Amino acid sequence: MQLRSSPTAAKSIVGNSRDLAGRLNRMKTVKWSPERTQVNSWNEWDPLKHVIVGYATDCHIPPPEPALEAKVPEDSDMRGQWGKRPQDMIDRGNELLDTFAEMLRGRGIRVDRPTPIDFSQPVVTPDFETGSGFGCMPPRDVLLTVGNEILEATMSYRCRWFEYLCYRPLLTRYWEEDRNFRHEAAPKPRLADSDYRPDYLSGNISIETRLEWTAEKYFVTTEEEPLFDAADVLRFGKDLVVQHGFTTNLKGIEWIRRHFPEHRVHATNFPGDPYPIHIDATFTPIRPGLILNNPERRLPDDQRALFTRNDWEIVDAARPAHNSPPPLCYSSTWLSMNVLVLDPKTVCVEKSEVHQAEQLDRLGMEVVEVDLRDAYAFGGGLHCCTADVYREGGIEDYFPIQPDFAEAM
Ligand code: ALA
Repeated sequence: MQLRSSPTAAKSIVGNSRDLAGRLNRMKTVKWSPERTQVNSWNEWDPLKHVIVGYATDCHIPPPEPALEAKVPEDSDMRGQWGKRPQDMIDRGNELLDTFAEMLRGRGIRVDRPTPIDFSQPVVTPDFETGSGFGCMPPRDVLLTVGNEILEATMSYRCRWFEYLCYRPLLTRYWEEDRNFRHEAAPKPRLADSDYRPDYLSGNISIETRLEWTAEKYFVTTEEEPLFDAADVLRFGKDLVVQHGFTTNLKGIEWIRRHFPEHRVHATNFPGDPYPIHIDATFTPIRPGLILNNPERRLPDDQRALFTRNDWEIVDAARPAHNSPPPLCYSSTWLSMNVLVLDPKTVCVEKSEVHQAEQLDRLGMEVVEVDLRDAYAFGGGLHCCTADVYREGGIEDYFPIQPDFAEAM
């Protein structure tokens, strides 16, 4: 082979193989049918055809553990109690999730559901022991779909260590039915005490201190080993934007970078969030060129260039309609912006979030109202309780100009 000694030729081979991969991906995505499983989703907004919707079944408030201690607000009604959530609340949560799933099916979207495990069982490994699991309402936290791959995240709470098992029946089936599907799992973390900073576990920490620590990127998780939750990652075609915070550390982001070598992976942080867990109540892409940003957690100026230099608009999300989250809920009122985009013109918004619905309507989206608030306590909103399996479309480059991102590894 004459090509062997020429560095220029070697470069062009790499270039060609990537172009080819891109072409194949675009070709592969042309025909979709509900009878044939295909895994494919490159972003948060292309037309949704197949999705997983979680269940509230058997959901537990887990016992105290380091990552949870740091997350549950000092004045939360969840402090000091753990165990299975009340059955009537679980039934109501499942009723809403079932209705949401039926609505999606009515729009021609295939909906699959997980298989809950027994969350009352203690979670025990050689490195730690905790009294129960959590639940499987938010598949978005665990499963990251990138193209034809679904990656199980490491997770960073002990109580969530075995949660991936709820999705194994589905992922096994996809693997059998779709020859192109890549089922991947990130290395399971040890989650020993050395993964957590004792400063966060010392009792009452004021909001001011929390905000200072977030601004300094001093989070509850250490850099002992790679940690990430899938809900800290947003997909923008060739670019993955990842929140550095409580549930995802810099080694986790570096792991994602090495795992997806064809992607550009950007670490972000949002200094206004005293409990920075999961990016999807903070930064919400709606369609190419438009992102909602939580006005209390604005993306710092030095990290905006990737979007602004490529003519993307970042607008402040509307205020939530509620002053407090529902009872026994981990999340903030900003689940208002935790929306599920069905296609670049259509978005599901929680029914009571009238301000968010109005804003999206003004921004030119058709808004589909979904009643979900009574299911928030089980793990989040409309984005959290779903995970993509198939969206139409292939990998695109939405950010051809790549300015230096401020947050270096
Ligand atoms: N951590 C996100 C919030 O509560 C879900 O705002």
